Amino acid sequence: MKEKVIVCRCEDVTEDEVIEAIQSGATTLEELKRVLRVGMGSCQGRTCGPILVSLLARELNKNPKEIKQWNKRPPLKPVHMKIFIEE
Ligand code: FES
Repeated sequence: MKEKVIVCRCEDVTEDEVIEAIQSGATTLEELKRVLRVGMGSCQGRTCGPILVSLLARELNKNPKEIKQWNKRPPLKPVHMKIFIEE
């Protein structure tokens, strides 16, 4: 029996599921996110992002630098809500 390799631990997504999505036409991190919810967990893709880039590059026969990073959406990092409140 083949061992299950988790690549996105926040969303419990396996390497096989990612490869299947790529073989079905996904070519970017954003497409993988829409199909599998990778990158939508509590770490917001900080953990799985580099792994997914490697898998995309390998499966699409590209250099990892050619794989576009996640779309950036503010806030870029966690902030305290008090910075939004006027004093
Ligand atoms: S490991 Fe994928 S979102 Fe956290």
